[in-house]
Amino acid sequence: MRFLKKALLAGALAVLSATTITSAYAQETKIGFIVKQPEEPWFQDEWKFADQAAKEKGFTLVKIGAEDGEKLMSAIDNLGAQGAQGFIVCTPDVKLGPGIVAKAAANNLKLMTVDDRLVSADGKPLEDVPHMGISATKIGEAVGQAIVDEMKARGWKAEEVGAIRVSYDQLPTAVDRVEGAISVLKANGFKAENIFDAPQAKTDTEAALNAATVVLNKNAGIKKWVAFGLNDEAVLGAVRASESVGIPADGVIGVGIGGADSAINEFKKPAATGFIGSVIISPKRHGYETALNMFDWVANNKEPEKLILTAGALAKRDDFEKVRAELGIE
Ligand code: GLA
Repeated sequence: MRFLKKALLAGALAVLSATTITSAYAQETKIGFIVKQPEEPWFQDEWKFADQAAKEKGFTLVKIGAEDGEKLMSAIDNLGAQGAQGFIVCTPDVKLGPGIVAKAAANNLKLMTVDDRLVSADGKPLEDVPHMGISATKIGEAVGQAIVDEMKARGWKAEEVGAIRVSYDQLPTAVDRVEGAISVLKANGFKAENIFDAPQAKTDTEAALNAATVVLNKNAGIKKWVAFGLNDEAVLGAVRASESVGIPADGVIGVGIGGADSAINEFKKPAATGFIGSVIISPKRHGYETALNMFDWVANNKEPEKLILTAGALAKRDDFEKVRAELGIE
């Protein structure tokens, strides 16, 4: 009897310690997710989906906002000091590339990038760092096509229309997106001289509003406008600028990229604005999948693919809920 009790106890203890070991191991996996603009709905969504991966796999996700290079560098040191094994980053400045790689290595952290791909001092992508971004040119073309289609529906002629290119040219993905849109406008009769550059100081709505206002004031003779940029915020800025100079909603066609709350809130307004659509991209893939890939790298030594480019789908006021559901990002 005594023997049996002892054996039972030993068995129970073995089970207990096995569970402790597995959960301790899962607990030990700590992954950072650093983003350049934590207040932007796109990045909030990325974090939300990364959290989902953390819950599923049982690792700890450390979310950090880093609006400038200094904050980013100390965030990486901080992750190292906390005993994290890797991190995913959308950097505030892609030219920090080699510095970020060095900082990650010094802290013994695996590194993956999301959205904005790191570049070297001479502007070439750092191809060794696994990256997930959007298919920028294609998505830009979809924006251009949506604009052209809406122009046709409204009976606009290319020569009477001005185009606002809200730009952020230090970021390659931003250039690819707007150039994709421009190629379609040009193929549909738009002349280069009717396309006006509105360089934004930051990739948010306020900076885009300021940049677009300058263009509109300089070209007050033009009454019909189209607008595009790297994200929804850029286009919303241009649309707000058009409203502030008194151009009615039916004189503006803006198409964004993103499809997160910035766009949704606009679509939900009782009256349509000049922001007529957004190419919805997937924060689920960019958040959940990158986090999962990093976990696999850290815990199972499975290296992620070097480059993953994700697709988008156009949505408008009347169908954005359906498009989001189809993309699995509700
Ligand atoms: C950049 C933009 C974001 C978002 C992502 C998507 O980081 O600044 O707004 O569009 O790309 O990859």
